[in-house]
Amino acid sequence: MSNKPLIGIVMGSASDAPTMRKAADILDEFGIPYEMKVCSAHRTPARAHEFGSTAKERGLKCIIAAAGMAAHLAGVMGSLTTLPILGVPMDGKVMGGLDALLSTVQMPKGIPVATFAVGSHGAVNAALFAVSILALSDPEMAKKLDDYRVAQTAAIPEDVPEA
Ligand code: RP5
Repeated sequence: MSNKPLIGIVMGSASDAPTMRKAADILDEFGIPYEMKVCSAHRTPARAHEFGSTAKERGLKCIIAAAGMAAHLAGVMGSLTTLPILGVPMDGKVMGGLDALLSTVQMPKGIPVATFAVGSHGAVNAALFAVSILALSDPEMAKKLDDYRVAQTAAIPEDVPEA
């Protein structure tokens, strides 16, 4: 596989990075090249526009977009490209991230955003979903994903731990 990024990870603030590194860790595990940028819909709109509007020509296959609070970044990315957009709401100080979840998931018809769980679970699942997208046209990646599932199952003991 070449080193050209296949997945974009954007986040609304550097404060989202600790959570979104969990997505990057998954892509690293699968050997998938990615690019990761801070790119706010509100505070750096020109940068967000540049990232989304050139994503396809740069060779990206999908974009993972994470933001908290009034989380418009995933929707903005969707407005700029027809690549699949995987939205990850960030946990914040309000209602455990429910504000960001609703901001990300409640897209009016026409511009879809696939929305994942709030926080690190969503970051991991968005990355695994990105792997699934690549696996559709890459048998080697499909095999790695099958192996990942087998290893995950094997790592979960049946016995309940002692109290
Ligand atoms: C959003 O506002 C970011 O995605 C972040 O989750 C939240 C808070 O940003 P900071 O004030 O920490 O920069 O745009």
